[in-house]
Amino acid sequence: MTEPRSWLFVPADSEKKIAKALAGDADAIILDLEDSVAEANKPAARDLVVETLRDAAPSAQQRWVRVNPLGGGGAEADLAVVIAARPDGIVLPKSENGEDVRTLARLLEIHEGVERVDPGIRIAAIVTETPKSLFGLDRYAGASPRLAAMTWGAEDLSAALGASSKFDASGELSFTYKLARSLCLAGAVMAGVQPVDSLYADFRDEDGLKADCEAGRREGFTGKLAIHPAQVPVINAAFTPSDAEVAHAREIVALFAAHPDAGTIGLDGKMLDRPHLVQAQRVLARAEKG
Ligand code: COA
Ligand code: MG
Repeated sequence: MTEPRSWLFVPADSEKKIAKALAGDADAIILDLEDSVAEANKPAARDLVVETLRDAAPSAQQRWVRVNPLGGGGAEADLAVVIAARPDGIVLPKSENGEDVRTLARLLEIHEGVERVDPGIRIAAIVTETPKSLFGLDRYAGASPRLAAMTWGAEDLSAALGASSKFDASGELSFTYKLARSLCLAGAVMAGVQPVDSLYADFRDEDGLKADCEAGRREGFTGKLAIHPAQVPVINAAFTPSDAEVAHAREIVALFAAHPDAGTIGLDGKMLDRPHLVQAQRVLARAEKG
């Protein structure tokens, strides 16, 4: 399965939003049973998730479910219902380290066995939502072959830290959240899984979203969370290599192939060395998948 560019959250108690998400262009949808669903609606939302996954026409779109956090009984209650309908993956909120991923992997193995569904349901972990989680970002490598993606969030972290805002006086993310973001990126790359950038909350601000996507992509993120269907085409476009980028990458790969013994080569007045080759190969791999 290819790495989704756009991951669209959909409150799992809203039939209308689910229908819209299924019909849209998000590479992955996340049926949310956690923060966007009131406690009283969770049982009905679980049933709606099952119905949705069972009835949805097969598609290249990946269908994930965000369960409630481990430890409070919420994740366990969600999994007991939704695994029978075989989602592509489970999004784990408030993950604190690789041990949480291992715990979820064990639960998935049990439920897959009980329900007799195809094994191998994958995991995407949200890895910066608690203070403790910031100290566990190097523990995801090797946690489970099911782990496919890591992403981060600022809202729960800022609430847990007692912050009055996640922005500084100039309107930029404060240092603490930039740190969380960078640790997520490095932790994901270290674990060999997809680094997915967090959501852009102002869903009417298309220019702001575009700039935010480009900033994330420049740093190494290969996909982004979305909360509104209008964000999906912007994210998909931003995380697809442009024709010019692909042509440039081809040129770099061809140049190194023509000079197999060269450690460094000049192109258009700029120095290229091995890391540029690796980056160019990555761009071509993504372009081929898209
Ligand atoms: N997925 C699918 N459809 C969505 C959607 C989503 N995430 N968000 C909005 N829509 C639909 C609306 O139902 C509406 O449909 P309609 O045209 O048939 O009436 C249309 O898109 C336009 O929506 P709009 O009126 O612009 O927004 P809204 O005020 O209805 O909803 C939010 C705003 C923020 C409540 C909504 O976008 C949402 O629920 N987002 C997801 C929240 C979430 O899952 N959070 C958890 C992760 S942080
Ligand atoms: Mg949350």
